[in-house]
Amino acid sequence: MIGPPGAGKSLLASCLPGILPPLAPAEALEVSMVQSVAGTLAGGRISRARPFRAPHHSASMAALTGGGLRVKPGEVSLAHLGVLFLDELPEFHGMVELLHQDILLNDNGFSVTNRVHDNRPASRTPRH
Ligand SMILES: Nc1ncnc2c1ncn2[C@@H]1O[C@H](COP(=O)(O)OP(=O)(O)OP(=O)(O)O)[C@@H](O)[C@H]1O
Ligand SMILES: [Mg+2]
Repeated sequence: MIGPPGAGKSLLASCLPGILPPLAPAEALEVSMVQSVAGTLAGGRISRARPFRAPHHSASMAALTGGGLRVKPGEVSLAHLGVLFLDELPEFHGMVELLHQDILLNDNGFSVTNRVHDNRPASRTPRH
């Protein structure tokens, strides 16, 4: 989205979750598996809501791609079958290029910071 400051780009993006189509049952299962690993599955219930993730540009590479000692999904995986919204893209300082490379080079999976290979789904290659 392109426009002068205050034109409403962020406002428009924040409205996206309201018009995303619901997940099909098989998609809902896939998304729930990622949320389950992340520990964010609300009450263990499967949701039909399509993920919408909008990490802040100060988020670390590990927060975006997942990682840590006990490997957890990052924002890319949490946005699986939904939208990963990177507001103020230039502020992400080259991380998008790294993400792009990582996802392409690892056959739609990605490696995480502690070098454990992670094949959790990340079916959407970031577009910018
Ligand atoms: N069409 C609109 N209707 C109502 N309020 C609006 C509209 N566009 C912008 N605003 C108001 O202006 C504020 C700034 O908009 P927003 O942050 O979405 O702009 P932006 O295009 O993302 O700006 P920036 O380029 O500085 O990030 C919003 O908080 C919102 O309240
Ligand atoms: Mg904005």
